[in-house]
Amino acid sequence: MRAAKLDGKAIAAEIQHSLTVRAAAMRAAQGRAPGLAVILVGQNPASQVYVRNKRRACAEVGFHSELYELPEDTAQAELLALIDRLNADPAIDGILVQLPLPASLDEAAVTERIAPTKDVDGFHPYNIGRLALRMPLLRPCTPKGVMTMLERTGQALEGLDAVIIGQSNIVGRPMALELLAARCTVTICHSRTRELAEKVRRADVLVAAVGRAAFVPGDWIKEGAIVIDVGINRTADGKLVGDVEFAACAERAAWITPVPGGVGPMTIASLLDNTLQAAELHAA
Ligand code: GUN
Repeated sequence: MRAAKLDGKAIAAEIQHSLTVRAAAMRAAQGRAPGLAVILVGQNPASQVYVRNKRRACAEVGFHSELYELPEDTAQAELLALIDRLNADPAIDGILVQLPLPASLDEAAVTERIAPTKDVDGFHPYNIGRLALRMPLLRPCTPKGVMTMLERTGQALEGLDAVIIGQSNIVGRPMALELLAARCTVTICHSRTRELAEKVRRADVLVAAVGRAAFVPGDWIKEGAIVIDVGINRTADGKLVGDVEFAACAERAAWITPVPGGVGPMTIASLLDNTLQAAELHAA
């Protein structure tokens, strides 16, 4: 293996340590810790795991957290009423609605109902708009975590060719805005992209957010590239793997994120960081 591993787990632990200290300071000054409300609708097993991990992380850094588990058949009006209540609750700084929602619910309307200063996922059109205009407030967690990892490489990003595979609202699009703000030349690829391999071969920075195990083979990787693997896929034999062929890509890349232990822990660290940031906004 040639590449150095970008150890998201270790970087996230450092961030969580500093958040623990800042949360304690807030408790001493204001008599309360940052508070996160997590809403889970239905029984999606992956979502249940993600929500459990997020709440465990809150407990580790001394944040207050509340879980609202709603049945699969929850009405849109009921969910919106809960969000309204949490928007008005001074103990709550961040509101996270775990996605995907059941198909009967309108995800865009739900996202838009969250007060922009409590939108710790950074998915509200207000926060996406601010990111697009280079005046970010609360930034989407996964792209924010990726930017923190890229900073840790010590490589200047300005002028690099960045290629993102995936155009989701959660990862691909905000990732493109972050990399553009860092003055990369950004290409977003998706399922209709022609000559994908040729585009990926030009990438100094590759962000793979496809959701398919080993989608990116080693021979697509430019020598010396930084490879960020956002994918978390479970193989038939129960193993967790990313979107890139790790061993083969690591032979050519200069830096690569492992799965697990790469982007995942950084997403959670960013969520906690956003929650503290939101608490500071609400205290101001
Ligand atoms: N589902 C997959 N990733 C995310 C995320 O970052 N936030 C929320 N709310 N749901 C998700």
